[in-house]
Amino acid sequence: MTKKIDYKRRQFLQHSAIGAAASAFPELLLAQSARIQSKPSPNFHPDVEIEFITRKAFVPISPQGPKTGVFKYYAKLLKGPKNTLVELKNNYLGPILNFTKGQKVRIYFHNELPEPSIIHWHGLHVPQKSDGHPMYAIQNGERYVYEFEVKNRAGTSFYHSHTHEMTATQVYKGLAGLIQITDDEEQRLELPTGEYDIPMVLQDRTLDANNQLTYLRGMHSRMLGFLGKQILVNGKPDMRFQVKSRAYRFRVLNGSNSRIYKLGWQDGTPLTAIATDAGILPKPETKPYIMLAPGERVELWLDFSGRKVGSELVMYSLPHSGTMPLMYERMQGRGGGMGRRGGMGMMGGGMQGGMMGGMGMMSGGLAQGSKFPIATFHISEKVSDSPKLPSKLVNFQHLSEKNVDNVRDPIPIAIAMRRMSLSLNGRTFSMDRAMDIEQVKLGSIKKIKIYHDQGGGMGRGGMGMMGGGMGGGMMMSMAHPIHLHGQQYQVISRKMTGSRTEAYETVKDGFINSGWKDTVLVMPGEEVEIIKPFQDYKGLFLYHCHNLEHEDLGMMRQFYVG
Ligand code: C2O
Ligand code: CU
Ligand code: CU
Repeated sequence: MTKKIDYKRRQFLQHSAIGAAASAFPELLLAQSARIQSKPSPNFHPDVEIEFITRKAFVPISPQGPKTGVFKYYAKLLKGPKNTLVELKNNYLGPILNFTKGQKVRIYFHNELPEPSIIHWHGLHVPQKSDGHPMYAIQNGERYVYEFEVKNRAGTSFYHSHTHEMTATQVYKGLAGLIQITDDEEQRLELPTGEYDIPMVLQDRTLDANNQLTYLRGMHSRMLGFLGKQILVNGKPDMRFQVKSRAYRFRVLNGSNSRIYKLGWQDGTPLTAIATDAGILPKPETKPYIMLAPGERVELWLDFSGRKVGSELVMYSLPHSGTMPLMYERMQGRGGGMGRRGGMGMMGGGMQGGMMGGMGMMSGGLAQGSKFPIATFHISEKVSDSPKLPSKLVNFQHLSEKNVDNVRDPIPIAIAMRRMSLSLNGRTFSMDRAMDIEQVKLGSIKKIKIYHDQGGGMGRGGMGMMGGGMGGGMMMSMAHPIHLHGQQYQVISRKMTGSRTEAYETVKDGFINSGWKDTVLVMPGEEVEIIKPFQDYKGLFLYHCHNLEHEDLGMMRQFYVG
């Protein structure tokens, strides 16, 4: 009986952009008895057709002992170029999808899990019905059909579950995979390809004594987010890459639920990026370290030329602070007024774990901001030639305030984290609502201001920036990776207005603001302005915190583009 009600409710949502609009078009509600997206549309002619199935599986994560129970995407290529799917053997990660700009793609998604699920193509600019909005979650035994044209330029994106209130657990159990898009402009650059073009998916997990995944419990720990005990790269612990003495392209995705990485070499060699979220940069950027928050991607140009055969280089996540609430960082002996990390910088575990655990605050994993190795690169072969890093990469349209129609009136995204609630613009997620400020005209280009709303319970009044001294707002404030669906955007300014400036010093040189982005890390006290086009598709497009625990706690809203 309840099923029937849910079904009707869903029909209602599927046919209406927002609740209010729906009442004006009651005929839409009666139009179809079958689910609208369960059948391919006859006038869409795909170049690529893929069948996706998600089900439970057992895969080896740990090199020793029993396999780990996971959720996994299986895919079969029905039509299209052979390299469209690249299977990762014995892995919970779904296959790598290789698309070409301009391709028309149809995907049949079958859910064989004992719970509802839906796939989102993070970074891809696709119509609402193919974007994996949680209203389209399907039950066990059901099918959903996606149809879209690949409009994105060359770059790296990923797909993952986007099931309401289950995104964090489903992604944690394995429901994610990489998307690589190519186009002519990229191919002319002759970047490293084949064995020299390597994925690097960063995730953290906690396995119990039987190698089974364990997750967090309780509201407090969900508010801080899941932090695992082990770092996995491409689904495996203790990753070692065997590389030749030449240049490589590494596509790094932070596919973790909550962990923020500060990528850097052990010996202080700077890192060179050639792409950010879903797009190649106008020119390479070299940084002492690179911050990578959940949902973000960065493509690295790693050049091992001149390195000795047999030598090793370790990539670390370097110590940093400011990403967690002050209270948490003080317990780690960091943050506070001291700014400086004592001794080993290795905290985590042990005593702090105990203390925080006692407060019900921590997941018991590696502390956020602590130093740990990510992967070892072993130079296994000498080669004499290597491609040169191009000084200029792709043509790039810089967006500025000249392009927007709301210079003086930016759309706000006000982040608030209070005792028991996480919100954006003063609200938590609701499936069928968009506020006035969330309604955007199709074809417009908007300035959006993302900031921390510290006003203790005052809603989104005025500046919202004041911080209220050491009150609840500041103590709870942490970094949030803010992701917007639809088209990529550009970051036009970052301003630190809060009091945790010393902590900010440990991260601020690691942001790349020169490229296309779909996820941006907003530090406590930081204000980030972006410019985003809302073109091509009408409908509901989500924006949310990509700390997946936060997303599931409702730190998600949506724009209605109409
Ligand atoms: Cu990567 Cu709305 O998600
Ligand atoms: Cu997304
Ligand atoms: Cu968040």
